Amino acid sequence: MVFVALALSLLLATSTVLGSPIARLHDPFPPTPKTPKGLLCNLPIPMVQKLLCPRQIANSDPAVITPLGTAHGVDDTANAVRFAVRYGTAARWEPSSVVTSWQLPNGNTNASSLPLACPQDGIDEDAMSEDCLSLLLYVPTSISPGSDVPTMMWIHGGSFTQGSATFPGLDGSNFAAATGSIVAVIQYRLGALGLMAPNGNMNLAVQDVMTAMNFLQTVLPSFGGSPSKITIAGQSSGATMIRALLATPSASSLFQSAILQSDPMDYGFLSAATQQTLQTYFNGLLPCSTTDVSCLNNISIDDLLGFTDNLSNTALTLDQSVGLGEPLRVVRDGSLITTPLDDTAPFPAVSKPIMVSNVKNEAGLSIYSDNAFPDSVAPTLYDEVVEGTFGDPDTSFVLANPNYAIPPSAQNNANTDARPTLEKLGTDQIWRCPGWTFARNWIGGGGNAYVGLYVVGASYPGNDAVSFCTESGIVCHQDDIEIVFGTVPSPTSQQATLTAEMQARYKAFMNTGNPNVAGHANWQLATASDVHALTLGGSGEVAAGGCDPSFFGDVVQYDYQKFDI
Ligand SMILES: *[C@@H]1O[C@H](CO)[C@@H](O)[C@H](O)[C@H]1NC(C)=O
Ligand SMILES: *[C@@H]1O[C@H](CO)[C@@H](O)[C@H](O)[C@H]1NC(C)=O
Ligand SMILES: *[C@@H]1O[C@H](CO)[C@@H](O)[C@H](O)[C@H]1NC(C)=O
Repeated sequence: MVFVALALSLLLATSTVLGSPIARLHDPFPPTPKTPKGLLCNLPIPMVQKLLCPRQIANSDPAVITPLGTAHGVDDTANAVRFAVRYGTAARWEPSSVVTSWQLPNGNTNASSLPLACPQDGIDEDAMSEDCLSLLLYVPTSISPGSDVPTMMWIHGGSFTQGSATFPGLDGSNFAAATGSIVAVIQYRLGALGLMAPNGNMNLAVQDVMTAMNFLQTVLPSFGGSPSKITIAGQSSGATMIRALLATPSASSLFQSAILQSDPMDYGFLSAATQQTLQTYFNGLLPCSTTDVSCLNNISIDDLLGFTDNLSNTALTLDQSVGLGEPLRVVRDGSLITTPLDDTAPFPAVSKPIMVSNVKNEAGLSIYSDNAFPDSVAPTLYDEVVEGTFGDPDTSFVLANPNYAIPPSAQNNANTDARPTLEKLGTDQIWRCPGWTFARNWIGGGGNAYVGLYVVGASYPGNDAVSFCTESGIVCHQDDIEIVFGTVPSPTSQQATLTAEMQARYKAFMNTGNPNVAGHANWQLATASDVHALTLGGSGEVAAGGCDPSFFGDVVQYDYQKFDI
């Protein structure tokens, strides 16, 4: 769950304008926006735009007429044009609404400027702003209005407290070009600003994502995208956000399919009661009454982040059900999010196709970090950690399971390091097994699900702080991101091969709901008895191990079951 981000700037490959396909596809002459054609193009009439309007006004200033105004982009990569845009506005702790005109983020006047991140720890104050409901749109140069291509809307991770559209690896150009689809990398309010409103507004961050989808519905046709072909994809808490959207009936018409990468599903959503407990504590930290709007609006970002840290560090002592990883998270409030989407309540009827993936060593970053176990773990310590995590009677079930037992031969060996077993246990408990359970439940509800496990990755910037994550054959949390985006800096042939495979599969999935493509292994649909998890970067299916339905989720329950979230 540790989300370490060192680099902030998005490094975009540069290319000469003349050499780019845009120069060949579009009118090379300077813009004449004052012509009648240009005027007509300002009318929000799709047919007029489709027939009469040039998509690109000029190569040095790629511009697209949208119903909200003219979008200016930059084509500083060879294969896609990037548009930065503010999609929504919101007063502090109030719901967001879609913008009424096309604007660059943060009052920028230069189309190559990148949006400021939402307020968070770990980045410079001048790199963030509360005015952060922006997105980056990557449009392949191969499409034009009428192409009706799909869009992948990416929701970044970072435990609902960190991350942005400009974090490393999220340049959508390569993915857009390789798949012939549009990529939208969005931002949404983080931390207390998105999820702990003193006035009782819940799930503002979820509503921000819906605002972004509403914005896309309006503008995609102008770029060649189909509003009815939006696939939402995200990693870690970004995938938790997607699970929330799958549990939000009012979001259902806004997207057609979903890809959940490395969602820590063990935690479930927050219950309304737990949210109330955390909210009451948080409100107590504030120097204002919860109804004094001018005082609340006057709290500095710095102070707010401090109060948020205090809440994050205290949450587990207030309510055990928050767990360690994402104390601030989406809330099953009963109005927006109406179901836990697990077996603690009747599973709703579902129909959207989903993909659910994990990486091989999800827990590696946490287990091997300096804060946890930088040194070898002896078998006795392993038993204590399991006891401390699972309590009784679950500890005895875990230690009796051959997948998580230290073999007798290793028990008394002074050289035994139990961390690999601990890492496997953490991966299975928090991520992999609840993901498989989710897929089985989804099938039970009538939907289609494809399950996969990455055994090849690309070490995400910052993950090298934990040396385990740089070892050959280890795929830690976030190491799937650059593979999917095709942004691995110097890919090995194995990485390049997997990127090509995943982009082909994502393309097929976004177009048809099925990730099977010629030339690659058959990816079987999950069934209620066997999720058929495909090895991504290897061959064959993944052994169930502790993710057998008779162990995790049954003999040993998930947190969301124990706490009935
Ligand atoms: C816009 O920003 C880019 C990148 O910083 C810079 O190269 C360019 O000169 C700027 N354009 C204008 C018109 O200021
Ligand atoms: C706003 O905050 C400043 C210092 O943080 C304080 O001096 C001022 O009185 C506050 N104003 C209101 C309206 O609360
Ligand atoms: C949270 O804030 C309270 C009140 O200022 C303080 O007493 C407490 O030590 C803080 N806790 C943490 C974990 O920062």
